[in-house]
Amino acid sequence: MDRISMHPILGERPAGKVVTFTCDGKTLEGYEGEPIASALRVNGIMVHRYTAKRHEPRGVFCAIGRCTDCVMIVDGVPNVRTCITPLKANMVVETQYGVTNKEGSK
Ligand code: FES
Repeated sequence: MDRISMHPILGERPAGKVVTFTCDGKTLEGYEGEPIASALRVNGIMVHRYTAKRHEPRGVFCAIGRCTDCVMIVDGVPNVRTCITPLKANMVVETQYGVTNKEGSK
């Protein structure tokens, strides 16, 4: 997926420092300070968590930190809203299953 490099209202995207991070053990790149969800989307990752009861996939919905659909485990901390959390170098991001990183957990 490509990034928007020139927006008609916001203008050109400021150049940022490229950093590496991992998602479920896979090494990815993103711009430091951009929302984690943006970096994931550029890398083709749309599912952030699975619901506890029905194990349904969820991803970015509101993108303003209100709905919690984008929560993931970041550096070992569950329920981090990735749409409003800035990306940092060497972050460890994991898909959240219920409130854990174990598939099939509640
Ligand atoms: S997408 Fe709604 S809180 Fe992140």
